[in-house]
Amino acid sequence: MSVLGPALVLAAQGRRVWTPESASTGAPRHDALFYFLLYLSAFFFLLVVGLMVFFAIKYRRRREGQRTSPLAGSRRLEIIWSVIPALFFLLLFVWGWREYMSLAVPPGDAMDIRVTAQKWVWTFDYPKEGISSNELVVPVGRPVRLTMSSQDVIHSFFVPAFRIKRDVLPNRYTVAWFEATETGTYDIQCTEYCGTGHSQMLSRVRVLGEREFKEWVDSGGGLSGKGLSSIEFGKLLFKSKGCATCHSVDGSQRTGPTMLGRFGARTTLVEGKTVVVDDNYVRESIMDPAAKIAQGFQPVMPTYAGRLKDKQVDALIDYIKSLRR
Ligand code: CUA
Repeated sequence: MSVLGPALVLAAQGRRVWTPESASTGAPRHDALFYFLLYLSAFFFLLVVGLMVFFAIKYRRRREGQRTSPLAGSRRLEIIWSVIPALFFLLLFVWGWREYMSLAVPPGDAMDIRVTAQKWVWTFDYPKEGISSNELVVPVGRPVRLTMSSQDVIHSFFVPAFRIKRDVLPNRYTVAWFEATETGTYDIQCTEYCGTGHSQMLSRVRVLGEREFKEWVDSGGGLSGKGLSSIEFGKLLFKSKGCATCHSVDGSQRTGPTMLGRFGARTTLVEGKTVVVDDNYVRESIMDPAAKIAQGFQPVMPTYAGRLKDKQVDALIDYIKSLRR
């Protein structure tokens, strides 16, 4: 194992055919096992099917009344075809078990980040640094432990380039970890169907050098709103809090009504009443989305009560106000 492992890692690195780019310490190890399994299966598939076809042709019945010659067992053959697969199974078990353990147990010195999933946005909180962000920003070459939970339904956190995927559940914590090996930007996807906005539930991991990461932390990280006008802060929140998943700002209708030119306009509700979209209507729609549903839309928006501070709601309203036709 100790010699075989690294050798296969090298072999797999040169043959990235079916796997995405790899940017974590775990990725090449994952790929090595994947390719080993793939090629092993391919080899035995060809061997078994090849022999089957060959025997079917060679020993086919050639004339009426031809009898099969009597068969005697071969102990040697039976031992060979039992022992060789058993050894492969054992190898795969030990190898898979070791990989599983290294995936399941984060190193003790890992940096902590809390991941919160909700329809349909990811939030990353840095408890030590006191930062909240909608992009996962991490330093290169340092192990990172993600403690994840969901505010509503089951989501699944997936970073293809790191080969980590873990379900994110309500009322429970799940843990994943990684150590990025390359600076750059990588995709985060949700891989558990979680409702209308599931396919839009995307984010990024930004891997920075140690110095750039420190600068990012010092600047207050993602969602501080430091140095921004209320409208700019609102725009940032609109994207980062998931509003933009369902509400466009260009006039196109998605799961929810567009915000372009909406403020100040009259809107018809499902029960036929007409209301003016003013500060109070927007605030109520954020805190208690089901209270007044606009005609032509489903009551699918989750509540943001307790998830936004007053200042953030104000900023969102200011931003929506600024979206004139
Ligand atoms: Cu969250 Cu799919």
